[in-house]
Amino acid sequence: MQTASVHGMWSSRLMFIMAATGSAVGLGNIWRFPYITSDNGGGAFVLVYLACILLVGLPILFSEIIIGRRGRMSPINSLRELARDSGASRAWMGLGWMGVIAGFLILSFYSVVAGWTLHYAWLYFKQLFLGAEAIADPGATFGALLANPGELIFWHGVFMVMTVSVVALGVEKGLERAVSILMPMLFVLLLVLLGYAMTTGHFGEAVGFLFKPDWSSVNGGMIVTAMGQAFFTLSLGMCAIMAYGAYLPSDVNIPRVGVAVAATDTSVALIAGLAIFPIAISFGIDPEGGGAGFIFTSLPLAFNEMTWGIAYGMAFFLLLSVAAWTSSISLLEPPTAYFVESSNLSRRTIALIIAALTWAMGLASVFSLNIWSEVTIGGKDIMSAIEYVAADIMLPVGGLLIAIFAGWVLSNRITRTELDENMPSWAYSTWLWITRVFTPLMILVVIGGILGVF
Ligand code: PFF
Repeated sequence: MQTASVHGMWSSRLMFIMAATGSAVGLGNIWRFPYITSDNGGGAFVLVYLACILLVGLPILFSEIIIGRRGRMSPINSLRELARDSGASRAWMGLGWMGVIAGFLILSFYSVVAGWTLHYAWLYFKQLFLGAEAIADPGATFGALLANPGELIFWHGVFMVMTVSVVALGVEKGLERAVSILMPMLFVLLLVLLGYAMTTGHFGEAVGFLFKPDWSSVNGGMIVTAMGQAFFTLSLGMCAIMAYGAYLPSDVNIPRVGVAVAATDTSVALIAGLAIFPIAISFGIDPEGGGAGFIFTSLPLAFNEMTWGIAYGMAFFLLLSVAAWTSSISLLEPPTAYFVESSNLSRRTIALIIAALTWAMGLASVFSLNIWSEVTIGGKDIMSAIEYVAADIMLPVGGLLIAIFAGWVLSNRITRTELDENMPSWAYSTWLWITRVFTPLMILVVIGGILGVF
């Protein structure tokens, strides 16, 4: 068993928790969760999503960390080596490749949305320091941004440069330094926003919308979206957490860190929802059907009203960009680590090449917002189609294979040692059978539903 990775190691248990939480908490929590909850009718969606986190997300989170730490290499090579040691087919490395492709697609649109947040931080900066006009009509401001490919490409590019600079520096110098300073700041700002939301007088309504299930809104498409969101928000199914698991010291207890990461991520999404919906409602915005611009068109209304709102708006969007940043580095890390192991190129060159390709791919999402807005794939615009295929289909399929690998290919001796040698038998068996049977079945039913098998 390898005890260290060539890419470096997290310096402590807390560092891993911060990095994995940094990967998990991002646009998925603060941009995507509120908007898809809004588009899917609220309460029932939230409950299905929470069930997916617990019954599908958590077992797969453990599985990814186990595989990563046991393999101590990039996901592709870890899967290949572990499969060989277990007498299974080399084809398992294909799972790592699928993760690379999913990550490439996700990063391509993720970086465009992160670019929107950077642009908004800049708009508030201009208001605060350069006397620019207030965002009086947020809907028009957002519409103008989407209609301007040059602006979108610029900010998408800035964000990609930010991402690549951290990944190029490697684990200790790059990733750790970024997450340990920036993550705690995000929590504080979100709590302040929650405090403000509580004063709007619409907090109760928002709680009702988020937690009172309207079961009539449950349908196949909604369940697929809820499961996709569970994968997306926890960064699962594309081997990102597996890559981070490879840098986890051997003595760290996996169930404990896994639960900490999942609990923090879920809390951030719920806090974001509880902060954003009351604000939207108080300004007369319908909490249903908000679409991808939801936070960009609702929150600026609140920032216009709040004392220090402009400074706050700047801090909020800056921090959201940071949350996106600590996630995007985990999207770029798995392929970078693979090519560091398998080529003679330097980490820096590799990260740069992959980021440049991803940036170019992102142009498809940029243009789908304006000059190609008429083009549709399966009834969706290009950006939504990429988001759907990567997040709602590829991540669950990846998760299914990860669960099968951890549950059936790896020996019980290995998974038990990695999880926690001293854990009671019943607890281990529970994880094992959930991972072996229950989680794969749930994913199969949902994916089967999309393909029309059921
Ligand atoms: N979990 C991130 C978010 O919620 O914003 C997005 C993400 C990061 C998805 C890394 C997948 C991944 F591998």
